[in-house]
Amino acid sequence: MFTKLARSLHDHFSANSLQLTKRLCSYTPGNKNHSPVWAWNEWDPLEEIVLGTPEMACCPEVLPEAKACISENKFDFLIKHKGKYWKSVIEPEHYKLMLDEHANFIRILQGEGVKVVHPEPIDFAKTFKTPNFSAHGVDCAMPRDFLLIVGDEMIESTMTWRSRYFEFMCYKTLIKDYWRRGAKWTAAPKPMCRESLFKENYCADEDSSAFFDEKTSILTEEEPVFDAADFIRCGRDIFAHVSQVSNNSGIEWVRRHLAPKGIRVHALNFVDPKPMHIDTTLFTPRPGVAITCPERPCLQIGLFKKAGWDVVVAPYPDIPKNFPYYISSQWLSLNVVMLDEKRVLVEKDEIGIQKLFEKIGITSVKVPFKHCFSIGGGIHCWTSDVRRRGDLQNYFD
Ligand code: ARG
Repeated sequence: MFTKLARSLHDHFSANSLQLTKRLCSYTPGNKNHSPVWAWNEWDPLEEIVLGTPEMACCPEVLPEAKACISENKFDFLIKHKGKYWKSVIEPEHYKLMLDEHANFIRILQGEGVKVVHPEPIDFAKTFKTPNFSAHGVDCAMPRDFLLIVGDEMIESTMTWRSRYFEFMCYKTLIKDYWRRGAKWTAAPKPMCRESLFKENYCADEDSSAFFDEKTSILTEEEPVFDAADFIRCGRDIFAHVSQVSNNSGIEWVRRHLAPKGIRVHALNFVDPKPMHIDTTLFTPRPGVAITCPERPCLQIGLFKKAGWDVVVAPYPDIPKNFPYYISSQWLSLNVVMLDEKRVLVEKDEIGIQKLFEKIGITSVKVPFKHCFSIGGGIHCWTSDVRRRGDLQNYFD
């Protein structure tokens, strides 16, 4: 039984919270129009995208966890330039072409009717300190790595490279705005990133042909960590890449978090001694088709075949290996974004993959983007699709 005072307090607060809810969003459960964030897969018609920005981006520090992800032949260059703005490291003409491609990409997206928004850079060259470590930042060029969009929900991933610990700050304004307009907002538990998260004296065997798992990883299972780019969304099924930046506990955290939505998260292991982010290894351009990297076989590829999906092996990239890929491999050829089930945004010089798309009935919208590849990501990495027209569906049984 309420006392008079309790009753009036209760009424006061419920009225206030109702008002607050009304002011902050137009949330109507079960109605997709309640949220400006809405994307369940990689292929529904694209309406809004976050595009990273190259401003103040820095050459990453080669901490042990970065060494575990990057090929050894790039170490000398990175050690020499760590912590410097890319702008001062990259050859000026190359840098200028990168900025031109970036500006042109915005025009292409807008021309397709897609709304483009950006994170806000911070000064990544500044060193920061937590009780457990200190580092300087990297960039906010790759929203894919940080933001995991599942339906109406934005999940801030933990981030695993210590140098990327504070990248979430660049997304606050955007995320708050989406949240105020009705999106659901979750931040995965911020990790401690103590020394014990990383195996001591770890050294990846670059020639290994074993399937990558927790035994070959630099990461321990001390706490859950994951990068958003290790997840690929196919409606009710999401595929997760066990990698040097996403441990089994991190994937398990995402699995349990999404289970109430009826989503199943499947962990996949690939042959890749330095796996980081699934989007150069496996991509699903539309229901029923999975494109895989010929150099990185998947242990659980049977999951797709059993469900009647075609597994198509990607051709070798056309852009040569000696193009300045300062951090990544040349498999950014696979790093594409679907405008819808029938149209893909793909690097204009990656002819092989364009031919493959043609064969499977997908038209290539050619985007000059390779100079942007240089600082570590392709079209998929540089973006995070926040709104696609379409609903949650089951494509697997
Ligand atoms: N580790 C990948 C490779 O070198 C690059 C992945 C880039 N993806 C991303 N979302 N940043 O092939």
